[in-house]
Amino acid sequence: MHLLQLLFVTAAAGMLPVRAASCPPFPSLMIEFSSGFEQPEAPLIKAEFQTSFIQHKWNQNLSHITNGFIVNSPAQNLVRVDEAYDGTLASSLFNYANSTKEGLVENTLTTFSHKSNKPTVWKGFVNSNFPLFPEDILVQNGAVFGGLVRRQFNDHFVAAWNIMYQGAIPVTVYVNNCNVTVGYDYFSSELRTRVITEYFNIQT
Ligand SMILES: *[C@@H]1O[C@H](CO)[C@@H](O)[C@H](O)[C@H]1NC(C)=O
Ligand SMILES: *[C@@H]1O[C@H](CO)[C@@H](O)[C@H](O)[C@H]1NC(C)=O
Ligand SMILES: *[C@@H]1O[C@H](CO)[C@@H](O)[C@H](O)[C@H]1NC(C)=O
Repeated sequence: MHLLQLLFVTAAAGMLPVRAASCPPFPSLMIEFSSGFEQPEAPLIKAEFQTSFIQHKWNQNLSHITNGFIVNSPAQNLVRVDEAYDGTLASSLFNYANSTKEGLVENTLTTFSHKSNKPTVWKGFVNSNFPLFPEDILVQNGAVFGGLVRRQFNDHFVAAWNIMYQGAIPVTVYVNNCNVTVGYDYFSSELRTRVITEYFNIQT
């Protein structure tokens, strides 16, 4: 596809690439150890987006790295994740409209492997590594500001926000100065597991 066609398709779909330089910088009150520091108000985030991502999950017994493409749509109650890892292509459709009170989410998982020319489709409830973040996730959860930090794929500092997701899982959400999420980390105390996720090539 030509660049112009690509630009046209992108514009037609109403999506804009994120440019931190086009938004006002963070105010100086957000700089820790500055005399004027005040915890800023948690922002509403741009919740309808699609992005490339890389995710690393590990614990005592596993180290799993995957990367691919995410579509996050609170309006449709859906997260779609297309990913590649360890000789497998997989596509997960997390239907947050169908979730349990324990926080399990219905997932339709389609996998393609080199061992077979037929995809495998599985459907059931899972503990998702890909939470659906609505616009007011930080506000509703009374997020605590965690400082301005550097992330792998961002030239500028981003704001860290700490929440207890579902009241049980400590999650740090990273938000740039356009109020766009650029990734999240969490730690599952029950599973003794750490997960870090970085976004790049984000379109809101
Ligand atoms: C981001 O959210 C903050 C807090 O609500 C707001 O003051 C700021 O104007 C927003 N920035 C952009 C670029 O939307
Ligand atoms: C790792 O494996 C050991 C031995 O099977 C098990 O006892 C332990 O609970 C596992 N740890 C995690 C975090 O799954
Ligand atoms: C919710 O998901 C489960 C597991 O896939 C499925 O059995 C059930 O029919 C779904 N319920 C609705 C209302 O879609």
